[in-house]
Amino acid sequence: MTQSSSRRTFLRNFSVGTVAVSTLPLTGCGSGGAHYQDVSYAHGVASGDPLADRVILWTRITIAKGDDVDVGWMIAEDDTFARPVASGVVKTGAASDYTVKVDATGLAPNRRYYYRFQCQGTQSPIGRTKTLPTGTVAQAKFAVFSCSNYPAGYFNVYAEAAKLDDVDAALHLGDYIYEYAADGYASANAAAMSRTSQPANEILTLSDYRRRYQQYRSDPDLQAVHARLPFIAVWDDHELANDTWREGAENHNPATEGLFLARKQMAIQAYNEWMPIRLPDAAKPERIYRSFDFGNLLSLHMLDTRVIGRDKQFAYGSYVNADKTFNTAGFTADMAAPARQLMGTEQTAWLQGQLSKSTATWQLLGQQVLMARMNLPSPMVLGTTGYAAYFALAAKVQANLPLTEAEQQLLAAPAVPYNLDAWDGYQAARETVLTMAKTLNKNLVVLAGDTHNAWASDLADINGQAVGVEFGVPSVTSPGFEEYFPKEDPNVVAKGLEQLIGPLQYAETAARGYVVLTVTPTESRAEYRYVSTVKSKTYTASTGKVLKMLPGAANRKLVAV
Ligand SMILES: [Fe+2]
Repeated sequence: MTQSSSRRTFLRNFSVGTVAVSTLPLTGCGSGGAHYQDVSYAHGVASGDPLADRVILWTRITIAKGDDVDVGWMIAEDDTFARPVASGVVKTGAASDYTVKVDATGLAPNRRYYYRFQCQGTQSPIGRTKTLPTGTVAQAKFAVFSCSNYPAGYFNVYAEAAKLDDVDAALHLGDYIYEYAADGYASANAAAMSRTSQPANEILTLSDYRRRYQQYRSDPDLQAVHARLPFIAVWDDHELANDTWREGAENHNPATEGLFLARKQMAIQAYNEWMPIRLPDAAKPERIYRSFDFGNLLSLHMLDTRVIGRDKQFAYGSYVNADKTFNTAGFTADMAAPARQLMGTEQTAWLQGQLSKSTATWQLLGQQVLMARMNLPSPMVLGTTGYAAYFALAAKVQANLPLTEAEQQLLAAPAVPYNLDAWDGYQAARETVLTMAKTLNKNLVVLAGDTHNAWASDLADINGQAVGVEFGVPSVTSPGFEEYFPKEDPNVVAKGLEQLIGPLQYAETAARGYVVLTVTPTESRAEYRYVSTVKSKTYTASTGKVLKMLPGAANRKLVAV
């Protein structure tokens, strides 16, 4: 479509329906229409944070840089825009990296809508979105993602999700981008796939973070899923830097990379520019925790366990004694320290309030790190014994075969959490949340990303009382355990972990994928969906394990389907 004919079509569409003539986005043509510049929408369109009456619409204008430009937007009940319901004009420019965010209001609940933009006579692609339902709700369905690393592979997972027709929203649990340099983490095959990170350096400045989002959002599969589904997203660490906490990160060196707080502020600015998120408090761009109500069916609470309130992670290295034994007592005491925070006191109090006031059947927590207990024998965690060797020993015990003294010592070693960056490293904070859900008698379903592997676990409080379940979603592309244990058979690893870790009911540690979560009044069901590879655009898709939880105090555990 030429610019002039697309402009005519847009104006025609804006001249029908309820839109007042005075609000027509004619000024979306910048300098009064006298001089059009070439405009394109190289990063697609997106929507996000749907509520019952509003949704965030997003695009970015690609234009020869200069003055600010006006951008017209329209949302309609149909994809021909014959029935528009809202429209307007907003300005964008270099100050927001030419991103456009509109909170389109006055919408009806539980409805599909279509939206598009126009600037300098050129129309954007059309996006599709959906508002939240109210009242009695029969079903809500989500595609749940985490850990989408561009240089690690093709976004085949996003391509699969974009084909789904009956999903209400996509949930992204973070690691939407990664901060590493082009020769950094998970980039060994990037050049062969034409997915070398841009900029080539580790991203540190506002323009670096923006450039990285530009690259990710240039991906056609990511654009497709954004154009198809509203996203409800939270960040994890890599939107800032690896293993971020409140005041620092493992992958941030203040001596050479400057003040962490300055980097954090720039990373957050770019996130808010590029993600279709609605800030709960515009004066506090670092606050992303917020809730979404799907009528009486479910309340979804998106949390920040990463940045806003997290104390620094503990490291195993500081608990290894001089004689190479493990300081179990010191470690256990530190892990259980009552004041230790993962969400921070303010967010924890907020969550308590949200859970208390919601009367919905289900309470979903959309968050970053694994909440379930993931204790493994310390020789495996500390790397002194391989996974396969330990599983072989466990098999020997099961078969009642005689053990050597060394084998007996190995068996006697304590079990410790495998990941101190997860809730396992913040045990009092975890107990606070579990106790909250239990005391309030809620049906708790926790969603987690971050690990790159698929997990499903029962959640119990410290007394072993069932509280709910956790679905840990596999990564879109980031490598899983198979990269760290290249010599181990992934099936042996997964099956062995399921046996060794009590609460763990399902593990898959070598496949990339996502979870389709379907919530009805009678069950919360997670389907683990996988792609055969992310190293080629040619792949097959499959559904793996399916697990569910039923509502009710007696049912708060996983059931295999
Ligand atoms: Fe990740």
